[in-house]
Amino acid sequence: QMADSLFIINNFARDYFVKTLFETDEGQNVGLSYFEERGFSEEIIRKFQLGYALNLREAFVREAQHKGYNLEYLQKTGLVTVRNDQPIDNYRGRVIFPIHNQSGKVLGFGARILVKSDRAPKYINSPENDIYVKSKVLYGTYFARHAIDKLDECLLVEGYTDVISLHQAGIENVVASSGTSLTTDQLRLIKKYTNNLTILYDGDNAGIKAALRGLDMAIEEGLNVKLALVPDKEDPDSYVRKIGAEAFRQFIADNKQDFILFKLHVSMKEAGNDSTRKSQLVNEIAETIARIDKVEDFTRQQDYIRQCSQLLKIDEERLVDLVNKFIR
Ligand code: CTP
Ligand code: MN
Ligand code: MN
Ligand code: MN
Ligand code: MN
Repeated sequence: QMADSLFIINNFARDYFVKTLFETDEGQNVGLSYFEERGFSEEIIRKFQLGYALNLREAFVREAQHKGYNLEYLQKTGLVTVRNDQPIDNYRGRVIFPIHNQSGKVLGFGARILVKSDRAPKYINSPENDIYVKSKVLYGTYFARHAIDKLDECLLVEGYTDVISLHQAGIENVVASSGTSLTTDQLRLIKKYTNNLTILYDGDNAGIKAALRGLDMAIEEGLNVKLALVPDKEDPDSYVRKIGAEAFRQFIADNKQDFILFKLHVSMKEAGNDSTRKSQLVNEIAETIARIDKVEDFTRQQDYIRQCSQLLKIDEERLVDLVNKFIR
């Protein structure tokens, strides 16, 4: 009941923001120009149902209440806030990215500010409610699922605009974690379509850290994880626009590396000659390898033990023993 009402309101809001983008002067001059400056085609804007919210206090809430939608439910969707007994449009003056579930129903929205500001966040996202549970959603799943299934690989990026730009470049097997660390539920969602996950995060430290945080969980879920870092200061959106679709595909192909081996390289570099830290990292990598299912993926586990012991210049037997200690 509650869930149905929230879906109905989000559906209405999505249509309203799309209409505002294409059919009002402010929508065209502000919202549409913004998307065009980013290089989004009209086709891609329509496909992802991008929209615009007028920069007025109550343009949306008036329409919604006129339609008969209840203020309490409007607040639950996050579209409207009540301040001093006055309802206010929450996303006013922002471009709108609807967030869909796997069957295309609108769970919520991300709303981006147009001009960088110290006083307001870049994105305002829907609050959690009966239909939007952040930890279970991956942005873009609805548009990516057929391509993921067909190519048997899922690309994971950080942001809404990364998903959209890659689609426009013809790379459609892509979803976004929307700036948070991966959760088990999100990994299970990917597993419904493929076992092969390729993480395409920003090449900065934050991007690497965020990617590493998801690794052990992903392995535990039985996913094959690869990683390609885009160059520093770029994200997949900016980079694909810079070098073009074909070069971007080639970049992924050339730079895709195994994630467990990547992790080992990073930690070895960090440890340097420090022997305490070195034995610590041997333990860590053993723990990671131990998460690979020994029954289902025995040869894969063996391969990693061989490759990692070579890299670490330690006895294979020693790594086997350590790995076995971690298997519960
Ligand atoms: N994000 C958010 N709130 C913020 C900043 C980021 O929810 N204040 C989420 C958004 O889902 C965003 C993702 O984290 O898409 C990645 O953040 P960032 O790289 O900063 O944004 P971009 O997606 O690159 O957006 P843009 O190119 O428009 O700056
Ligand atoms: Mn399949
Ligand atoms: Mn970043
Ligand atoms: Mn970006
Ligand atoms: Mn980004």
